[in-house]
Amino acid sequence: MGVRTTAVRATAALGVAVLLASCSSGGDQGGGQPGGALEGRGEVTFATGKDTSGNMQKLVDEWNAAHANEQVRIIELPESADAQRQQMVQNAQVKSDAYTILNLDVVWTAEFAANRWVVELPAAEFQLDKFLQPAVKTAQYRDKLYAAPMYSDGGLLYYRKDLLDAVGQKPPKTWAELTTACQAVKAAQPAIGCYAGQFEKYEGLTVNFDEAVHSAGGDVVDADGKAAVDSPEAKAGLDALVTGFQQGVIPEKAITYKEEEGRRAFQAGELLFHRQWPYQWALAAKTDGSSQVAGKFDVAPLPGLNGPGSSTLGGHNFAISAFGKNKATALDFIKFFTSEASQRSNLVATSQAPTLASLYEDAELVKQFPYLPTLKESILSAKPRPQAVRYGDVTQAIQESAYAALTGAKTSDVALKELQTKLQELLK
Ligand code: GLC
Repeated sequence: MGVRTTAVRATAALGVAVLLASCSSGGDQGGGQPGGALEGRGEVTFATGKDTSGNMQKLVDEWNAAHANEQVRIIELPESADAQRQQMVQNAQVKSDAYTILNLDVVWTAEFAANRWVVELPAAEFQLDKFLQPAVKTAQYRDKLYAAPMYSDGGLLYYRKDLLDAVGQKPPKTWAELTTACQAVKAAQPAIGCYAGQFEKYEGLTVNFDEAVHSAGGDVVDADGKAAVDSPEAKAGLDALVTGFQQGVIPEKAITYKEEEGRRAFQAGELLFHRQWPYQWALAAKTDGSSQVAGKFDVAPLPGLNGPGSSTLGGHNFAISAFGKNKATALDFIKFFTSEASQRSNLVATSQAPTLASLYEDAELVKQFPYLPTLKESILSAKPRPQAVRYGDVTQAIQESAYAALTGAKTSDVALKELQTKLQELLK
């Protein structure tokens, strides 16, 4: 994965960023005024997390071949969402023009828009009615558009179809069914792990905690945006994960898993069930020897306490830094990247969820990616994470409480009561 190299490269980029910030004049290239006109053409940079497929670079190369005077350069940020956010925030705080286009996680829009670190985009220039509406909402703040939905994300239950078929089990709809199915498989394969998600202390844990709470009928924030984790339903959700670890349904080492560690374990044949985003499909299906499970897995909706669960809404949107130069080029590049042709290419290469609704109905694509209808359902019924200007603090509070409960440092009761108090303060 070269995570370490990426991190070093990204840190170096930040150093340059800070340096540039002190020399940056903004001025007539549209770099100085947050919210100013989208003017200026020329070179731009595109700050984005690790490109596991190489397709991002392919699309950038396509753009660059047709735009000799408006070249785009990728600046690769670390793998973890939190580390990406931190670098983008640091750059914005020093008003650096090092990053022009930002690949924003859907949960950062409010923070970046409220702080005027990104500029408003001309909504009329994007055919927003053609996009999945939950994805569009993640790109808006106070009814204005601050980013363009590039790809969405819905959690799926990846399962080993070969192993379930062998013991006559169907993909589980509830957590209890998941445990039963796993026991049946373990009778013949004692070494296999039952289930993993993302449980390392980072954004992925917030995703998995929220999913567990929602899938047990609870809320993290209620319909009025108020904290709601001090409830029996939230406790049932968190307890499902806590007892999963205690009873070994979730292998101990899954506490160190982000997306990539879990994917590697699933691809190595170490897991029966894995909660993961759609990008895993393409990589786990590879027949070049990198995956032991090609042709042996399928996906189903996430299970829940008493019936099907619900996913946390994920995804990524492209925004323009308020401090970046050449914003007119940046806007055109975002239009190119979010176009149907680019989204199609991205789906085929990466199996990431498109944000354009039409691609889910495309017969050829559905044939190639039979999970598309399940995925669309997962996204349309997904629950967003709290939309908060202080999202960084909100997610940190969730991560701390969830991690303390999963590692046994605190009971889930205490962890949730503390979390309720912190969220009440942060969501005021
Ligand atoms: C994926 C999702 C994103 C989420 C992250 C957590 O990248 O698209 O929304 O925050 O995973 O690790």
